[in-house]
Amino acid sequence: MAESAIQSDRGVSQLRCIGCGRTALPDRFRCETCRDLLEIIYPGWEHRGPGGLDASTLKSLWRDRGSSLEAVDQSGVWRFREILPEIAQDQIITIREGNTPVYELPHCAKAAGVKQLFAKHQGMNPTGSFKDTGMTVAASFARQAGYKWVACASTGNTSASMAAYAARGGLHSLVLIPDGKISWSKLSQSLDYGAITCQLKTDFDGCVRVLNEVVQRMPVYLLNSVNPYRVEGQKTAAFELLEQFGWEPPDHIIVPGGNLANSSAIGKALREMKQLGFISRLPKISVIQAEGANPLVRSIRENGGEKLLPVHADTMATAIRIGNPASWKKALRVIRESEGTVEEVSEIEIALAKAEIGAEGVGCEPASAVTLAGLKKLVKQGFVKPNESVVLVLTGHLLKDPEYTLKFHRGDLFTGTSLEQESRAFASQQRSPITLEPSVDAVIELLRSAEN
Ligand code: F0G
Repeated sequence: MAESAIQSDRGVSQLRCIGCGRTALPDRFRCETCRDLLEIIYPGWEHRGPGGLDASTLKSLWRDRGSSLEAVDQSGVWRFREILPEIAQDQIITIREGNTPVYELPHCAKAAGVKQLFAKHQGMNPTGSFKDTGMTVAASFARQAGYKWVACASTGNTSASMAAYAARGGLHSLVLIPDGKISWSKLSQSLDYGAITCQLKTDFDGCVRVLNEVVQRMPVYLLNSVNPYRVEGQKTAAFELLEQFGWEPPDHIIVPGGNLANSSAIGKALREMKQLGFISRLPKISVIQAEGANPLVRSIRENGGEKLLPVHADTMATAIRIGNPASWKKALRVIRESEGTVEEVSEIEIALAKAEIGAEGVGCEPASAVTLAGLKKLVKQGFVKPNESVVLVLTGHLLKDPEYTLKFHRGDLFTGTSLEQESRAFASQQRSPITLEPSVDAVIELLRSAEN
């Protein structure tokens, strides 16, 4: 890495170990002493605030940038650049990520038992998932640092996003994915954006192990979510959400948990917002995992989060099919300090919740739907009260996994599994395609029967 890049970054932000607190060089991922993950801190903020500005000036500056014609202002990530690591503007790779909508979900609210429910839809990013918000920062850093190659192990969304940002920034990219365990929609993205895409005969956790060795031997920059620059970019979703709520925090934010970086990023953002005086209280941040990929839930229940109990992960929500999440300590801290919780949901609960979000005209991929499935449980347990405000973070677009959706509506998602019988309860949610003769009468007859 070029020394000038290290120097220019040092002025504003620093890397610090989340375990022992030692500082590290900006292109590292783990502490050289205790091997814990690193996070970015901004020592200068204590004395002069981000960019030397106070909270109210920043709030109006960020809003006003929305009407600028500059690419960095049109990006929903870089318009918040005062709270990000400093990257030279000519090194920034942006595809106008961020600026994602918040939708109200009245029918899902009813299904969950709360008065009002909102979804921050991160699937509305350029490559269809929340990964773009982090990738723009980490890929730009890679370019500024002089790397020619970037790489990731992925369940499909990180790889799609990385491949796109690498292509836009003139970098080469290497993708390692578990063979046959990611949706072909995500696979097709990384192919089209020009990544070298390797399907390894292992799971996500196995891909991570291989990649960690590769990046030690080759001058390739790692863009997995242990990369602290990704976490910084992903923070902006929470800043944007609070802006969309007029800086009045909701009571609860519910996030899906896989490798556990996104929950960490949202929690870091809210911690910083409170420290900087943007908000006066923290929403409770709760993390939902699939039952078959529940290492955090298990660890908290079995040993109070003292140590991680990895699992052999299996879920049809392939994006979160992760058994050994790298950022579990960061996520645990967020859950504790925000007084949130963790919950796990079954395959049946995920499928139903996904259909309910789809029926609102919004839609999401299976991994995102764990949030609604989890909320239903948290309301039943009394952790979420019916009159509290809740935001679900929907992480991926409906079109990320069309096969899952089609199978659900055709009624064969669970065919041949032990859940086949239980899945018959979905009948009223299923809208299978109807094959008809090309006749006006046939269509009208169908319409009439649908009206009744
Ligand atoms: N939702 C979706 C759609 C995802 O793709 C992921 C992670 C998560 C939730 C979980 O986020 O890992 O920060 O806890 N996908 C990664 C990938 C692992 O490779 O695309 P997390």
